[in-house]
Amino acid sequence: MFHQNSYGSMQETSSVVAACTTRPALVVGNWKMNKTYVQAVKLAQELSYKASQFEVETCVCPTHLALRGVANVISFDKAALKLGAQNVSWEADGAFTGEISAQMLKEEGCTYCIVGHSERRQKLHESDEQISDKICALIREGVSPILCCGEPLAVYEAGETRNFIQNQLRQALEPLTSKLGEAELEELQKVARTHEAPALVLAYEPIWAIGTGKVATPEYANEVCEAIREVLAMLFGEELAWCTRILYGGSVKAENASFFFEQPSIDGALVGGAALDAQQFAGIVEAAHG
Ligand code: PGA
Repeated sequence: MFHQNSYGSMQETSSVVAACTTRPALVVGNWKMNKTYVQAVKLAQELSYKASQFEVETCVCPTHLALRGVANVISFDKAALKLGAQNVSWEADGAFTGEISAQMLKEEGCTYCIVGHSERRQKLHESDEQISDKICALIREGVSPILCCGEPLAVYEAGETRNFIQNQLRQALEPLTSKLGEAELEELQKVARTHEAPALVLAYEPIWAIGTGKVATPEYANEVCEAIREVLAMLFGEELAWCTRILYGGSVKAENASFFFEQPSIDGALVGGAALDAQQFAGIVEAAHG
């Protein structure tokens, strides 16, 4: 699945946008606090065969403890899978008991790292400032952040999703323009086009759809993804906005994935529960293949 450049006025107004005509699909499995080291290695072995059959960029995010084990499976099997982490410290090093730095993730072989997942925002009180510092820490080490955003049920029911999401993203992303150096920002722009690390990835995950079996309609999710692209354009320019992949997450399964992937502004999926089963997850990767 490649999404062609059809971003309305953007296409007409910017010649640089034409340089990035497609956004390759990305499917990410967030294993959360599931799978011991041994179980994670076993799942990675099953996936390295099943998911590698399709030409779709696929990433798995085990716990920190299983990163090395999964990395070994990927290199032993020469699998096309990429490795991602679920969290990172905003600090580079030092006295931060229990934390893991971006440099450590890089050394374990991580291409991606999830940031700002609603479970961490809600249950661990992660703030926008911490989230934006984590993004900076990852970019400095060449690891691509997958920034999550999503509205609670009450906001959805009040019809306030668009404002909520745009505000949430501004809080996390606006500080990047001052916290990152000019060279780092330029690099971010440059790699956005090639989709090489450390390109930013966004994930829209309505909180009411995570792990609940309820899904947003594909059209609704697409509209929110377009609103996300608007914020990216405002903060970082049209080229980065157009080139950045935006994933949908929230009860994605092999049976419903293709409806999301058909949408022009949805470039892949962030998958929780269904990523714990090799068959299910491979089905989602297959749907992204089209
Ligand atoms: P889910 O989780 O697929 O189980 O809804 C998605 C996520 O939290 O990333």
